[in-house]
Amino acid sequence: MQLPDDLRDAVESELKIQSARQLAKLTAELSQRYREDPEDGRTFIRSIADVEAYAAYRMPATFGAVAAVLSRVKDVLPDWEPQTLLDVGAGPGTVMWAAVSLFPSLSSINLLEREPVMISLGRRLAQHADAPAIQNADWIQVDVVEREALEPHDLVTAAYVFGELDSSNRQAFIEKLWQATGGILIIVEPGTVQGFARIREARKQLIALGATIAAPCPHELECPISGSDWCHFAQRIARTRLHRQVKGGELAYEDEKFSYVAAARFPVQKIPGRILRTPQVRKGHIIFEVCGPEGIETRIISRKQKDLFRRAKELKWGSSFPEE
Ligand SMILES: C[S@@+](CC[C@H](N)C(=O)[O-])C[C@H]1O[C@@H](n2cnc3c(N)ncnc32)[C@H](O)[C@@H]1O
Repeated sequence: MQLPDDLRDAVESELKIQSARQLAKLTAELSQRYREDPEDGRTFIRSIADVEAYAAYRMPATFGAVAAVLSRVKDVLPDWEPQTLLDVGAGPGTVMWAAVSLFPSLSSINLLEREPVMISLGRRLAQHADAPAIQNADWIQVDVVEREALEPHDLVTAAYVFGELDSSNRQAFIEKLWQATGGILIIVEPGTVQGFARIREARKQLIALGATIAAPCPHELECPISGSDWCHFAQRIARTRLHRQVKGGELAYEDEKFSYVAAARFPVQKIPGRILRTPQVRKGHIIFEVCGPEGIETRIISRKQKDLFRRAKELKWGSSFPEE
């Protein structure tokens, strides 16, 4: 996956004031703060330079993860055409760019963000967008924990935000997000043990509040993944020129690991199962690890199942398992 041309140009032209060396130092410090993952409500972003480092280092990866999640939602809801988006903890507007590229029906966008420096960069990037919905998005500076209620929207999103909230506020926050959701609520977190634990908890709470799970789970039963295992997926993202400079010119791509839940207000066509690992291709058959209504199972599709085998060759980690 690549950043759309307008977003890539926006990032490259708005961030050119910094040298790759300076950006590399800032991104190293920022990554360290994210790795510490304190869950105590402190901001990781402390200056304009931090914001630029975030946009250079993290924005392509979080864009890739969110776009992957949105395309999984689209798989199960091909006819859904949301008009309004509320993105909470918007940062530089990453989710909005991904959402408009997958759901061009979006015409009205509200972005809630606490840090004025993030909003300022987000607004500058948005001016480079081809889509009027991105250019005209409303940026609102607010601490979402303190805000009592949120306006209803068709699509509500919170990506890579829960780790920055004080964990004691999280349940009330999820309830607030759900109250504002007219169609689908999407929560994305890093694909780590801690990130998945937050998703698992959110999923449980949303089901108790009456949500249908649109993705990744094929059911609303108890999540079968616990202990030292964690449910996560990966998206390969081509690195931008700036990103390669920051990374010292290593690989031309990176793999972003993420965990997520998409909760729906309406019924969703259930998939037979979700593929939890990269399929193992053997001579004459492919082995899949699949989460389904019966829990986690190993499923094998053999070359003899002609039509199914042809479709199975296209499947990846994170795809839905096909109907037989
Ligand atoms: C890791 S960034 C993610 C940004 C964006 N969603 C993305 O995926 O690229 C988390 C963002 O949430 C914002 N944030 C954290 N706590 C917040 C709060 N209580 N109210 C509003 N924004 C908050 C931070 O300022 C930061 O911009």
